[in-house]
Amino acid sequence: MKISINANRCEPSPMRKFHPLAVAAQKDGKRIFHLNIGQPDLPTPQAFYDAVQNFRDRTLAYEASPGMPILIDAIQKYYKTLNVDLDTDDILITTGGSEALLLTCLSILDPYTEVIIPEPYYPNYTTFVHAAGGVIRALPTNPWEGYRYAKRERIESLITKNTRAILVTNPGNPTGVVLNEEEMRMIADVAKERDLFLICDEVYREFCYDDRYGVPTMAKFRDIDENLVLIDSVSKRFSACGARVGCVVTRNKELQQALLKFCQSRLSVATIDQVGAAALYNVSGDFFRESKAEYKLRRDTVIRKLRMIPGVVVEEPMGAFYVMASLPVDDADKFQRWLLEKFNDHGDTVMFAPGAPFYETPGKGINEVRIAYVLKQQDLERAMDVLARGISVYQRQVMHVQPEAKK
Ligand SMILES: Cc1ncc(COP(=O)(O)O)c(C=O)c1O
Repeated sequence: MKISINANRCEPSPMRKFHPLAVAAQKDGKRIFHLNIGQPDLPTPQAFYDAVQNFRDRTLAYEASPGMPILIDAIQKYYKTLNVDLDTDDILITTGGSEALLLTCLSILDPYTEVIIPEPYYPNYTTFVHAAGGVIRALPTNPWEGYRYAKRERIESLITKNTRAILVTNPGNPTGVVLNEEEMRMIADVAKERDLFLICDEVYREFCYDDRYGVPTMAKFRDIDENLVLIDSVSKRFSACGARVGCVVTRNKELQQALLKFCQSRLSVATIDQVGAAALYNVSGDFFRESKAEYKLRRDTVIRKLRMIPGVVVEEPMGAFYVMASLPVDDADKFQRWLLEKFNDHGDTVMFAPGAPFYETPGKGINEVRIAYVLKQQDLERAMDVLARGISVYQRQVMHVQPEAKK
């Protein structure tokens, strides 16, 4: 028996909570600060739980394949608040943004067709693109430019006859980069001029810390209706990752038909989750304002603490809840293992996501890390102190760097 070539090209996720070394460290009594997982810790709005408790259908039936009308209506109204007019057919409910991405790749890619993605990128993109037989063409960035990628010549230089799509995450995971208006327009123009799909993953749309950007969405450019595919989700917006509800939004009718076939083949998304998600869309704007203010404080803490560590290269990210930084260590993965196996500071240690799996290009991101600031202030302060102490001890004990020679 054989496993498929596409499956073999997929990688295990690097952002696992239950990493065997973490499990062993916890067994040894260590407290681990998890900065490695992009799971918001703020409470999910009560409206979700109330709606689920009030659900009274005697039979838990399949729902409509494109999604429950109550949820599609709620999403349509939400987009209206962003000045985006959508028809109900433009929204297809999926099991999280993850399924939205997978179904999009299955709908638009053929074997060996290419998707241009700025690297570093969300590692599960590799799985979705590879599952559809596609190939990722990485658009390079670097830490000292703050991972900004919106350069027309760089994007155009990667377009070949096999290119089907450009995929951007805005705001970005893992970099926190937010595209400005001009950059969004330029990327939209390239997609339009070169007749490419533009997949815009906007699951972090509300987490944008510079008010000049507002709540960014590519959907406002009506001249790219045929090109644009939005990936959306309740996971981050409403601190509701376990609800497993997202959607794919496109005004391209042909693509809608293709997506619908996949939606029909998996019958429907979980009914109870959709009922709860519909209620989430009615929570007041205060919820976003408060969550954003909290994450902004946390971002400021992480940046302040990172800047105190000699040799760290980091730019202040404008969105999402991640910081990507270059650490003064030889290999972030090796450093992470050492933190779990050999190090503790008064019983505490820390986990981050090593940078290399966020890159397509071999050898890149070796000493970079992604830090998810999803802990409460006090824990975050402590976690960053533990990280600073860990770097210092690692440099001395493993890299044999003399204190005065440290850069
Ligand atoms: C950029 C990005 N897109 C999509 C997802 C998928 O999220 P979900 O399937 O929970 O909606 C994630 C999750 O971390 C993400 O970071």
